[in-house]
Amino acid sequence: MIYSRKAEQLSPSLTLSITAKAKKMKTEGLDVIGFGAGEPDFNTPENIQNAAIEAIKKGMTKYTPASGISELKDAIIKKFKVDNDLSYTQSQIIVSTGAKQCLANVFQALLNPGDEVLVPVPYWVSYPELIKLADGVPVFVTSDKEHNYKFTLEALNKHLTKNTKAIIINSPNNPTGTVYTKDELMIIAEFCKAHDIIIISDEIYEKLIYGNEKHVSIASLSQDAYDRTIVINGVSKSYAMTGWRIGYAAGNEKIIKLMSNIQSHTTSNPNSIAQYAALEALNGSHDKVDFMINEFKKRRNYMVGRINTINNLSCINPEGAFYVMINISNFLGKTFNEEEIKDSLDFSRLLLEDEKVAVIPGDAFGVSDYIRLSYATSMENIKEGLNRLENFIQKIK
Ligand SMILES: Cc1ncc(COP(=O)(O)O)c(C=O)c1O
Repeated sequence: MIYSRKAEQLSPSLTLSITAKAKKMKTEGLDVIGFGAGEPDFNTPENIQNAAIEAIKKGMTKYTPASGISELKDAIIKKFKVDNDLSYTQSQIIVSTGAKQCLANVFQALLNPGDEVLVPVPYWVSYPELIKLADGVPVFVTSDKEHNYKFTLEALNKHLTKNTKAIIINSPNNPTGTVYTKDELMIIAEFCKAHDIIIISDEIYEKLIYGNEKHVSIASLSQDAYDRTIVINGVSKSYAMTGWRIGYAAGNEKIIKLMSNIQSHTTSNPNSIAQYAALEALNGSHDKVDFMINEFKKRRNYMVGRINTINNLSCINPEGAFYVMINISNFLGKTFNEEEIKDSLDFSRLLLEDEKVAVIPGDAFGVSDYIRLSYATSMENIKEGLNRLENFIQKIK
């Protein structure tokens, strides 16, 4: 039987599969420290939980408009105004089943076969696959360590072709944690204007910034940038709501309409109860969010400080999100128990088998000489996990 060529070519999400493997090892009684998590380790704040319970009791359990309930759209509009100085109307907003569905919708709505999308390397695992599912071509733009792996004009120009249709900006970035400055975004906005490129700005980690940088949405930089940008955001990461599956996007009316039409046939509406929970997340108290950000900041500071004291390891300094990319290039080509470590996949597998520490290999993000560790886990786990990592690398010859 010949199944869909498109589906056959798709790689499964490596981050989800490694996290699942670590969880399975734990249930088998093994003492695994997991650094794979792409989600806060905190539970959803109580006021949000209660809003969902209330929604169920009030019978908000039916289909909603495909692009989301009106009250939630109003809350999203207010959020964009207050946080990003962006003005939208209801017809410019769509609520989806996670930011991931917004991204899937946007690529389906934008791309025709052969259209190219500029993707930053290292990239979040799902961008290339979602682009390919929409018949587009991901074009990987590699920057360098010196620029913290952010887009440079030189790198963008090198990858520009007559088929370039869109670009993905992801700030704060998964996996590097880097945050684009306003000046850097200005350069990208000018580049997109000059070459008529649509900007997809994934701002899902917006609230999780710990350094001095402030989050700037590229859409807020000029009228032109506003017109050509689709902003993607959601409640998953900021409000510890990954399982609720609510994301949202804002952009021009035409593209939002196309996205809504697609969504109406693929999943109808996002979960009705979760929409009411998201409404409380955006409108209710942010105390718990502030608490989480503070905790992440403490863990980040500890982790980065500790990594930098370990011989032969270094990391990209993360200013946001909850990940640290550790450079393992000093160990590639060396051996562990007589097995050669060729890439980050070998390194991660051996680390898991030997020291029971789960990390995500950089290969999942298009870079072989890094591993990604999430600090969305307790300080106790972070300390123990880094001890084990240090033990592991001392055994590499
Ligand atoms: C960069 C980035 N964008 C989007 C998403 C998807 O978020 P959601 O849970 O809202 O679908 C993730 C989740 O890992 C992410 O890291």
